[in-house]
Amino acid sequence: MKKRVAALISGRGSNMTSLIAAAKDPAFPAQIALVLSNRPDAAGLETARREGIEAVALDHKAYATREEFERAMQEVLLAHNIDIVCLAGFMRLLTPWFVEQWSGKMLNIHPALLPLYKGLHTHERALADGVKLHGATVHFVVPGMDEGPIIAQAAVPVLSADTPETLGARVLQQEHKLYPLALRLLAAGALQIDGARVLITKESATTGALISPDL
Ligand code: GAR
Repeated sequence: MKKRVAALISGRGSNMTSLIAAAKDPAFPAQIALVLSNRPDAAGLETARREGIEAVALDHKAYATREEFERAMQEVLLAHNIDIVCLAGFMRLLTPWFVEQWSGKMLNIHPALLPLYKGLHTHERALADGVKLHGATVHFVVPGMDEGPIIAQAAVPVLSADTPETLGARVLQQEHKLYPLALRLLAAGALQIDGARVLITKESATTGALISPDL
């Protein structure tokens, strides 16, 4: 039985689209059963509907409190028998109550090599610090923002001519590979949380390093 996944979005939903594409593989252990947005104007809603996936907008502004909004989300998720929640550019902070409901079953993708650059404007901040490697992280969601056991990371070089836009585009390309990989591992039961670490079964041992600059 494939795991039923909800992708939570707030905008264009390119990571959601990468999950939908990956799940088309009959061997992929999960299906994207629902797309949920806190913004009715999120472009990703239309993309999902074009793919034949149910897409629901719950405007957070229509709820008096964060808790009420989250209870409404939880109802929709339960009504669709969702097993796994993937935050895919979902730009609302979640309360500990909601996070607890999905403990070990909710993933987030963040455009930085966590624990560096939590929060916003990650590409600007990486450039300002002069780091030579930047990237993306998929992690389990815990109550702290952009915290939680790390499942997978992708590193990219930072090039001399980079702007936040070019660097962000290079990172985003990797996000689209990384999120399906992490979801596949979770849905296949290949992940074990061990304190701050995620242990991965059937890991192959590679020792290659990404060195930047690569001269
Ligand atoms: C992605 O780059 C994602 O990593 C980031 O928002 C973008 C959403 O793009 N998420 C965060 O910053 C969460 N802290 P998308 O809507 O095209 O997937």
